[in-house]
Amino acid sequence: MSTTPQRHTLPADLFTLADHERHARARLDAPVWAYFSGGAADEITLRANRSAWDALTLLPRVLRPLAGGHTRCELLGRTLAHPILLAPVAFQRLAHADGELATAYAAAALGAGLVLSTQASQPLEAVAQAMLGDAGRGPLWFQLYLQPDRGHTRALVQRAEAAGYEALVLTVDAPCSGVREREWRAGFRLPPGLRAVNLPEAAAISAPGGAGSSALFDGLLRHAPTWDDVQWLQSITRLPVLLKGVLHPADARAAMDNGVAAVIVSNHGGRTLDTTPSTASVLPRIADATGGALPLLVDGGIRRGTDVLKAIALGARAVLVGRPIVWGLAHSGAAGVAHVLRLLRDELEAAMALTGCATLAQAGREILADVGNFYPGASNETYSHS
Ligand code: FNR
Ligand code: LAC
Repeated sequence: MSTTPQRHTLPADLFTLADHERHARARLDAPVWAYFSGGAADEITLRANRSAWDALTLLPRVLRPLAGGHTRCELLGRTLAHPILLAPVAFQRLAHADGELATAYAAAALGAGLVLSTQASQPLEAVAQAMLGDAGRGPLWFQLYLQPDRGHTRALVQRAEAAGYEALVLTVDAPCSGVREREWRAGFRLPPGLRAVNLPEAAAISAPGGAGSSALFDGLLRHAPTWDDVQWLQSITRLPVLLKGVLHPADARAAMDNGVAAVIVSNHGGRTLDTTPSTASVLPRIADATGGALPLLVDGGIRRGTDVLKAIALGARAVLVGRPIVWGLAHSGAAGVAHVLRLLRDELEAAMALTGCATLAQAGREILADVGNFYPGASNETYSHS
């Protein structure tokens, strides 16, 4: 395992994220491919995430001034070069020997925020070092799964703080795993030597046996986090806490009441509960329920710059991308991840220009034909001219 990213020549035919997907698929073993690309059960949510972005239509305005336009946005007190972050994705060394280190170099070079998974396959300190040295870098956050042993959780939080992580992203939509049949059918197993290196060696959680007991409820879920743990987490850290995996407007309001810094509207890329709504369909309802008082991010199926723009128009401050990061990583390491991020950002700029938005603040619901209040006779003059 090298500590600097390996050099790669990029394939010549990379014009879209779908091209990256094709190259990654050709490179990875079938079980690993099933792990990265699969979703839960019938993968209805996995598909819905994609099709929901596709179904939203953009309604351009023409002849608007675009000079001086930019993709900058404000998030948790920082100005980001653009609103695209890398979602936490576990076990990235399955895709490439450099794993999360390569991803961090690419994120830093492209000014993208990075969220490191609790289940990362590289030490969290090394990943932070790869990112923090770059002056133009985006935010560096640590994704947290609360550990059954709260002492372990506290130790992990302290390590993340010491290493320079700037926020904690508590994932709340996966108190247990989804039923990941594609992965099971493919016979996916972590290879020897690859594990969640930032956690203690897995201690099996045993359930009390006996008739009427449930392996799930009497086992793993005895330790499932609650809103009290959100309070506890905030009490033991100086870092802002975000919640990842909220779909219900009432949970978003509860998040606000509990003082969290932001919410990531997510269904875990369709990997936990199947048949939930797409994130694109719940995002505007959550935006309405929280009235702009709570910064929202969104992920799930974002594959085009137009998807990013639609997410912003529906009320997100920023977006995260999951699987496309793995695609770039799998076939070309850091250079592949950087190329994925570059494509998305370039596409976002073109989408902004072609809808008449010089800034993301100008991208409101009125650029979405089916969501905005578009009908003949309406003034629709709700752009700010900042
Ligand atoms: C994930 N995701 C995830 N989320 C999280 O909070 N912690 C984690 O460790 C992981 N691990 C993980 C592994 C793999 C292989 C995938 C594909 C996803 C979910 C991830 O952060 C994000 O919510 C989705 O991936 C977003 O959807 P797209 O962009 O992959 O469609
Ligand atoms: C997954 C877990 C690691 O989605 O979050 O695979």
